Amino acid sequence: MSCMVAIGTQWGDEGKAKMIDFLAKDADVVVRYQGGANAGHTVVVGGEKHIFHLVPSGILHGEKVCVVGNGLVIDPVQLLNEIEQLEGEGIDVRDRFVVSDCVHLILPYHKELDAAMEDLRQKKIGTTHRGIGPCYADKCLRIGIRAGDVFDRDTLREKVEHALAVKNPMFEKLYSRRAFTVDEIMLILDDFREKAGDMIKDSQTLLHDYLEDGKNVLLEGAQGFALDIDHGTYPFVTSSNPTIGGALLGTGLNTLNINEVIGITKAYVTRVGEGPFPTEDTCDEGDRLRVNGKEFGSTTGRPRRCGWFDVELIRQARRVNGLSSMALTKLDVLTGFKKIKVAVGYEIAGKRINGFPSARLDEVSPIYEEFDGWDEDISKCTSIESLPAAAKNYISALEKLTGVPITIVSVGPGREATFYRDAR
Ligand code: GDP
Ligand code: IMO
Ligand code: MG
Repeated sequence: MSCMVAIGTQWGDEGKAKMIDFLAKDADVVVRYQGGANAGHTVVVGGEKHIFHLVPSGILHGEKVCVVGNGLVIDPVQLLNEIEQLEGEGIDVRDRFVVSDCVHLILPYHKELDAAMEDLRQKKIGTTHRGIGPCYADKCLRIGIRAGDVFDRDTLREKVEHALAVKNPMFEKLYSRRAFTVDEIMLILDDFREKAGDMIKDSQTLLHDYLEDGKNVLLEGAQGFALDIDHGTYPFVTSSNPTIGGALLGTGLNTLNINEVIGITKAYVTRVGEGPFPTEDTCDEGDRLRVNGKEFGSTTGRPRRCGWFDVELIRQARRVNGLSSMALTKLDVLTGFKKIKVAVGYEIAGKRINGFPSARLDEVSPIYEEFDGWDEDISKCTSIESLPAAAKNYISALEKLTGVPITIVSVGPGREATFYRDAR
């Protein structure tokens, strides 16, 4: 029995999907555990690019079971589109795809509210407008609609009526927008039942059954440590827990089920949307990282803010998640930089501080060290030994500074541009 959790350690877009696709070859089941279609997960296989928002990134391996765990919030229309698109590409999805009956459904009023609230905010969060926050809020208010609700149409209608009785006055009176009708929401839910009903299951029991049968389960995080609603840079965060607690809550697994927690870490840092980012480089080198790393959001197309590796961020991600190892991604993007900056600590008002003060991150200034860069093209490297000395030195320095062993290195977007640190 084995269960590995893969978690982004920065502000998302660390290359999680690429690593999930790589790790999935040793898994039987791949499970998303939180978030929703705010995620944009890119996998490149045989030169072909696939972008997933809800479907787990292990789906490209023909025989793996893929599960949308109970902790997600899913847009039923988007999920059906994604499945249809994959099937159009010749990838069989239906027979090995499970949607938790406890997953909450994002409906048009959630997306509308997401946009309306952003419009109203003085200080915008820069959400993806996918309705994530409003849907999680309804979950906590206990007026959410869950996937399993679609089977009992009469009760479902009552639930939708109740939700709209709460929502519609807000749209009409507060936001001067139109009210939603019960019928238009029921249309979406009826279609979802018809097309996806056979995939909706009790995922919590199923996952425990898989583990008891000796299957290997891989949990796929979305977003990243610093976007976590509890541990990140609130309020500039997402509305779920991408960290290890979310992996347990969002699947129904327990701590004893987890064997390994791997942090997916970019060799530099990016952030989409607003909020503090101590190592952001708003000058030429940040632009160069964006161009070299093609740092444009896969969900919204927004340019990602770019900056340098931040040790305190990873040290905190290690503490919160109990990282046993890391996969270092996008090392190739640093090729050609004469010097590579790494923030080895923070100071506030000239005084060095300890830790990652998530609530005061806008006050910190990074303390940088510089490492030698390299000019050689490393995108074809298949082992640590084949990397230039400066790249090897960079990896060793990051391990030492963060206290987490780097066991996998990624040097390009393709599945093949990945290798284990030690020969396996
Ligand atoms: P995720 O949200 O963490 O899954 O990451 P995204 O897919 O949003 O963004 C990562 C981007 O970097 C994608 O376009 C990947 O194809 C690409 N990528 C992943 N790993 C590497 C790598 O090692 N090198 C390069 N150059 N690109 C990579
Ligand atoms: P993946 O899984 C990067 C950011 C948004 C915004 C904040 C809140 O691809 O790494 P939300 O729509 O969740 O309410 O937006 O969180 N955000 C992400 N940034 N990668 C993601 O996912 C993100 N998902 C949400 O940009 O700042
Ligand atoms: Mg992404």
